[in-house]
Amino acid sequence: MAITQRALLDTQHAFDSVAADYDRSNTANPILCAMRDRVLSEVRRHVVAGGRILDLGCGPGADDEVLGKAGYQMTAIDWSPYMVEQARRRVNDAGLTARVSVQYLGIHQLDQLSAGTFDAAYSNFGPLNCVPDLSNAAVEISARLRPGGVLIASVIGRVCPWEIALYALRGDWDRARVRFAAGSVGVPLNGQTVWTRYYTPTEFERPFVGAGFKRATLRGLGVFAPPPYLEGFAKRHVTITRALQRLDDFVGAWPALRMCGDHFLIVLKKT
Ligand SMILES: C[S@@+](CC[C@H](N)C(=O)[O-])C[C@H]1O[C@@H](n2cnc3c(N)ncnc32)[C@H](O)[C@@H]1O
Repeated sequence: MAITQRALLDTQHAFDSVAADYDRSNTANPILCAMRDRVLSEVRRHVVAGGRILDLGCGPGADDEVLGKAGYQMTAIDWSPYMVEQARRRVNDAGLTARVSVQYLGIHQLDQLSAGTFDAAYSNFGPLNCVPDLSNAAVEISARLRPGGVLIASVIGRVCPWEIALYALRGDWDRARVRFAAGSVGVPLNGQTVWTRYYTPTEFERPFVGAGFKRATLRGLGVFAPPPYLEGFAKRHVTITRALQRLDDFVGAWPALRMCGDHFLIVLKKT
């Protein structure tokens, strides 16, 4: 229990430390922007206009601004108070306070969220990888969704072909296999530590199936396209990167390939 609390605090402090610059660095990263576009279009595809969405691990609120402007009713939560501060400022500056509410709350504290039911839960770029007890989170998320509601999540996967190839070529086997660790891994961020659990799609969806969900769609993000930390490559090789991203769009949902990718994008429906 004490170890879990320590890990949660490490992760909180790590994200606090990057909150001020997080949005700028994300917006400048063409790979992250392309991935974000794909995740947001999945939201538009699965959630009716004006629907109520619970954003789990909203960061500085980039998606909440886009979705709020598109007419969705957003409740956004994050475990980093500095990220929450950034998101609130952003929502305020965009004049979206009537549509977007930002709360300082961890996903592991969902039982403390004020009453309300949502059409969708949403989690972009790995917040669910930082939750110590995914089974408990699955039950709490299910409790917040109406029947037929969906969870749309981009989750950091285990089999990232670029990463395996890159570090294997360098002979750095420990780094090449880091995503295959059984439990939580301490991932460095700005000199601090984010405690991360990597999942295959099958491992990830198991507790959600136990909580009454069924998979609707699944695809890999960054199967052939490079992962976000290779933004230098993407900037030098714009045409190749775009071609690889289009290839991902074409084949990323194919049976073996959808189990791969820097992230996977999964939609689970509450039955
Ligand atoms: C990689 S960022 C993604 C932020 C945002 N979803 C986006 O797309 O820009 C991960 C976010 O998850 C948050 N986070 C990490 N652990 C969390 C937890 N247990 N509960 C809620 N948020 C958490 C972090 O504070 C951080 O803002």
